[in-house]
Amino acid sequence: MIVPDELALADAWEDTLTGDRSFYRSPDGDPYRHFATDIAGSEEIVPRVQELLAIAADCPGGPLTVIDLGSGAGGLLTRLANAGTDARLIGIDLRSRPPGLDPGIEWITGDARQAASDLRGIRGVVVAHEFLDDIPCEAVEADEDGRPRRILVDPISLELILGELLDDPADLAWLKEWWPVTRPFMRAEIGSSRDDAWAAITGMLDAGAAVAIDYGHTRAERVAGTWDGGTLVGYRDGRVVTPVADGSCNLTAHVAIDSVAAAAPRAQSTSIARWSAAPGRADFVSIVQTFT
Ligand SMILES: C[S@@+](CC[C@H](N)C(=O)[O-])C[C@H]1O[C@@H](n2cnc3c(N)ncnc32)[C@H](O)[C@@H]1O
Repeated sequence: MIVPDELALADAWEDTLTGDRSFYRSPDGDPYRHFATDIAGSEEIVPRVQELLAIAADCPGGPLTVIDLGSGAGGLLTRLANAGTDARLIGIDLRSRPPGLDPGIEWITGDARQAASDLRGIRGVVVAHEFLDDIPCEAVEADEDGRPRRILVDPISLELILGELLDDPADLAWLKEWWPVTRPFMRAEIGSSRDDAWAAITGMLDAGAAVAIDYGHTRAERVAGTWDGGTLVGYRDGRVVTPVADGSCNLTAHVAIDSVAAAAPRAQSTSIARWSAAPGRADFVSIVQTFT
């Protein structure tokens, strides 16, 4: 019998995001069935976007635009439209255009990472609310000597298993800089795929601001061991479940928010803060970067 090889975590995770096992594209994948953190419940977000749009409006450029990445049901854009926001409103999501969405709101169905790479010269605000945590990444667990081993996926059960020692130079360098693996049995997620996504997202902007709001952490917390258990979990029906890469749950891991910020060296200002009034009282971190 031929035993198939273990799968790389990021590949198996990607399959549950955009591939054959996509959680969000499945009939069961309406995010609002599974999460209580709908952006439509956020008190701060609309005034914040309007404030940032006003900054963009002072810059020369094309039409003022708001792009919502991983727009879900389009709740943010609907609220902006209802508030009379004078800007192009564009939602991007793996899921189809929500039925009944204001016809003035534009919609792109597809992978927002690709769309962000394709769109350029935007003047306005791009928002990623609970988007980056969904981007597949690799993860490690230290052995008893503190050496990081790759977390892999069993090709049959699609459960997480422990694999060989990590030897990829880029992954090792990312860990060294952002999440040093120093203690036996600690876990860490490697955030370079989120950094790449943020570089593409902020690369859209000629002038304006990029906002990400997500479950996140900073280097000081990681070094202190606050997140030594790792943050990779499955989510389903409002509950944390064992992460299995079979598409039955949303796979998510917190975002290394400072590493993401460093992926946009063009930013003129960067602000990282707790997002105090998050929907569902989620413990979110925000990053706001401006570009002119
Ligand atoms: C947790 S929901 C958040 C929805 C919305 N931003 C909110 O906060 O209410 C995540 C959304 O991001 C979408 N999504 C995740 N990864 C995506 C990707 N790579 N491209 C486009 N949409 C994506 C999912 O389909 C889902 O609608």
